[in-house]
Amino acid sequence: MDRVSMAEAFVFGRFNQIGDAKWRTRAVYHSHAVSLLCALLADKRGLDPEVAAIAGLLHDLYAYEKQDYADHAHLGAARAREVLESLGLTTAAENGLIASAIYHHDDLTLTDGPMDELLKDADLIDNALSRPARGIKENESARIEKIRAELGLPARM
Ligand SMILES: [Fe+2]
Repeated sequence: MDRVSMAEAFVFGRFNQIGDAKWRTRAVYHSHAVSLLCALLADKRGLDPEVAAIAGLLHDLYAYEKQDYADHAHLGAARAREVLESLGLTTAAENGLIASAIYHHDDLTLTDGPMDELLKDADLIDNALSRPARGIKENESARIEKIRAELGLPARM
């Protein structure tokens, strides 16, 4: 089994233990969507699609396990590192990239490293672009325009 599938088996195994159906469904849907978008954007940006896909799978694991988004990026980075070290699928350098991306993924108005930016963008596409009726938050609009331009989509404004 490849590394992404092994990480997915672990993450979805955890999600299957979530009792609340709404949280459980959202966890599976969102984590899968973000992982796929991470792999796609990584390919486009010359980053490692496998590492990106694993970051996407793990990025909200902490929030779903706790059913709480409070400080989930920072706390989730530590949780992801713990999972990565126990799974042993990734190198120390890859663990560092993934933990950093998760740590920064809620800081939409800051520009961080390439893998950090990739996770923010993948998360935002699923949260905003795939749900036009949700509306765009103030801290998301500049990033959304940048993603749309990168993907060759027309500007909203
Ligand atoms: Fe997310």
